[in-house]
Formats: sequence, C-alpha cells, structure tokens
Amino acid sequence: MAVTPRAVAHPPGGTPFQPYFICIKCFILSPEGSESGACGVLHHTLDGTRRDPLFGCGMIRPPVGINILDRHRDSDEGPIRTDCRLSDPHTGRRCDMSAQAKELVRAHLAHADGEQEMTLEQREFYRERIKEKLQARDAVMVAHYYTDPEIQALAEETGGCVADSLEMARFGKEHPANTLIVAGVRFMGETAKILSPEKRVFMPTLEATCSLDIGCPEDEFAAFCEQHPDRTVVVYANTSAAVKARADWVVTSSIAVELIEYLDQRGEKILWAPDQHLGAYVRDKTGADVLCWDGACIVHEEFKARGVEELKAVHPGAAVLVHPESPASVVAIADVVGSTSQLIKAATEMPNDTFIVATDKGIFYKMQQLAPEKTFIEAPTAGSGATCRSCAHCPWMAMNGLENTLAVLQDENGCGQEIFVDPDLARRAMVPLDRMLDFGKSLKR
Ligand code: 13P
Ligand code: SF4
Repeated sequence: MAVTPRAVAHPPGGTPFQPYFICIKCFILSPEGSESGACGVLHHTLDGTRRDPLFGCGMIRPPVGINILDRHRDSDEGPIRTDCRLSDPHTGRRCDMSAQAKELVRAHLAHADGEQEMTLEQREFYRERIKEKLQARDAVMVAHYYTDPEIQALAEETGGCVADSLEMARFGKEHPANTLIVAGVRFMGETAKILSPEKRVFMPTLEATCSLDIGCPEDEFAAFCEQHPDRTVVVYANTSAAVKARADWVVTSSIAVELIEYLDQRGEKILWAPDQHLGAYVRDKTGADVLCWDGACIVHEEFKARGVEELKAVHPGAAVLVHPESPASVVAIADVVGSTSQLIKAATEMPNDTFIVATDKGIFYKMQQLAPEKTFIEAPTAGSGATCRSCAHCPWMAMNGLENTLAVLQDENGCGQEIFVDPDLARRAMVPLDRMLDFGKSLKR
C-alpha cells in the first residue's frame, strides 16, 4: 500500500516508485523534475548547473540531496518502508545510500511525520552506553552550541566541550584524548582533523554540512581569487579544507571584526568568503575595503526585522541579540551582534530579564543554563517573506543525535564516519588556521 508522502500543499501524487526529493529544512517532498517545493524554494537542480535563487550563494546543488523513491506499507498495520537514495553533496549526482544515510532519512521522516520521540528510558540507555564507549575509546566529545540539548549535556557531563567554532578548534587541538567525536557540522570535523592530524576524528554523521560550505566550491572560489590577486583572502571557518588551503587567513565570527580592522590598518584590501552578511557587517564596522563572495546561511537568512520589531513592541524591555550571519536589516536593530559565545556572554551579563535571540535555537540550552531566571524568545523566521517552514534550527546540526553518536563509538571504524583530510591540503590549510588561533590568542579570546 503506497503511503502518500507527508501532507504538503503540492501533493506529488504518491505514485509508487516516483522519485521525490525531501527538503531537510522543511521536510517537504517534491516530485523529481519539479521546479520548486511548496515553500517556494528551488529544492533541487538535477543537472547541477542551475543557480538556486533562494540562497543567492552560488549554490548549484540541492541543500538536501535525499531522493525518496517510494514510501509504502506492506500491509495496513505494517511499518512504513522508505526506499530512497542520496545525492552526492559534492557533485549533486546520485549515489547509493549507505546504511547510515538510510537511517538519517528514516529519522527525518519520523520527525516529519510527528512520530514519537525516544522515551526517557531509551535516552538514558543511549547516554549510558555513550559514556562507557567514550571512556573505553579514549574519546572526547566536542559539540557546538547549535546541537540538540541532549548532545550538549552529554558533552559537558563527559568532560568534553560545548563551544563556538573557534573554541571547538582550540579544545580539540589541546585535549589529550586520542579520539575526537565532533558533534557539529563537517567543516568543524575537518578543522579538528587538520589541527590534530595524529588524532582520529569522527562525527555522528558526515552528512552534516553547512550551506556556506556547500555554496563555496573550491574551483569557483579559486577562480574568484585569481580575478583579484591584489586582495588578502580571508575565509570564514565555515568552508571546506580545500577553500581554507586557498586562503591567507581563516576567521570565525568571534574575531572577524578585529581581524579585518587589523588587516585594514596594514593597508590590505580584503576578499571575503563565503558569508555575505557577515562580510557586509565587518565592512560596515571597520570601513575596510571588503569584496564579498555571495554565500549565506540558510538558518540566519530567515530572520525577519519586521518580526523582531513586532516582538519588541510586545516585550519593550527585551534586548535583541543577533548573530552576524543574519541579514543587515536584522543586524541594524540588534542591541548586541556577535558570535555564539559573545551572545551567550551578553545574555548572562546584560541587566535585561528578557532577550529576543536571532540565532539557532540550540543556543537556548546554554543561555538558560547560565541565566535560568531570564526569558529567551526566538526571533521570528516565519511571516511575510519566509521561504519555508523555518524553525531557526540548522538541519545539519540537528543530524547529531544519540543513536548515531553511539553507533560511531561502537564500531572500530566509526561506521565510516571518520574525517580524513588529504595531507597536502591539510598542510596548506593549517597555515591560515594557525594564524587564526594565534590572532585569537593575541586578543585573549
Ligand atoms: P560561531 O562561530 O559563532 O560558533 O558560529 C558558527 C556557525 O556555524 C554559525 O552559524
Ligand atoms: Fe552553516 Fe548556518 Fe548551519 Fe551554521 S547554522 S552550520 S552557518 S547552515
């Protein structure tokens, strides 16, 4: 019995064996060949040549890459079976699905279908097994503030770290464990491996990527750099190892303004990639000559200035905290603009008792932990101009779960989710990464 793909405004027909794409951001299915999903997003570009207008970031591949070939039940009572394939995130071409990828799709669909989440007992079971395995494998968890609260809690309880991308890089390098479990997105795992080549670095899933990374392919970026040989190349940490290897500097949002100020004072003109909003923000703050690549974060791009203002009218005493990957109109009405760690610091130190927060909602775990008496409200992403069922949560960060973390730890080879970086690439990427760490240290950050 065929199961109609999740209720959507553009039912794709539900015909068995018709290929579908599912958007991991909004969980909407689109039939293969259709131009856009119900959310108005161009979900896929099978020929790999079309530019995706949503992202405006040069992204020519689907942000998604999951083809649902069929969903059916063998009997009325039977479980839903999903037959699907993935697209290779690097080429946009189809590839066979690994068991892990199938598991991911299953988890996404379960979420989309509103299936029951894990019970408390199941969670406890996973948490205990993960703790045992971390010890047994001399491994430590390095998690980002955007991962789900249970992942952050586990990292903290087991002597790992929960941090922004700069601190994650530092922690992984300095920690004595010989294995790192990086719960975040791909560029964070790659950075950890480049900085600690002697360690084994695993991620709960290598499928977890980032729209900024995807939107800045190395070949196109190299051509862009070649057009501007007079500029110092500064890339955001949210890039592949290959893009970093092409850069003079790597930077994270916590030190971006200071670094551009420093380079500007040395009379350097900047080529900045990939986030156009962060690039525009640093240009605005420093007055430096900054030429930007036009990438964007699919999560932060959704925040709406009008929505924030309306919320502010309801909570006049609230302070507005904004990550600089957000659009300029949202940045303009912020009380504090900063990296994840800077926003957390502001939330704890400012006297306000209410905060409107324009960044991934994973950050609420740490804010609430450090300031339990304060109220944190998500900045709106829906409403006029919204491109889909936005949720202020990075779909790739959300792929880090208890089940895949345990699976990776249980298998000697981490179910194939180990990070490897070509040694020559790593050697070249290490140069701008080291400069970033040294510069951060000089700022005492
Ligand atoms: P931070 O460097 O502020 O942790 O940000 C990383 C990121 O991916 C933001 O979207
Ligand atoms: Fe990338 Fe945005 Fe996700 Fe951060 S929140 S990892 S910038 S897609």
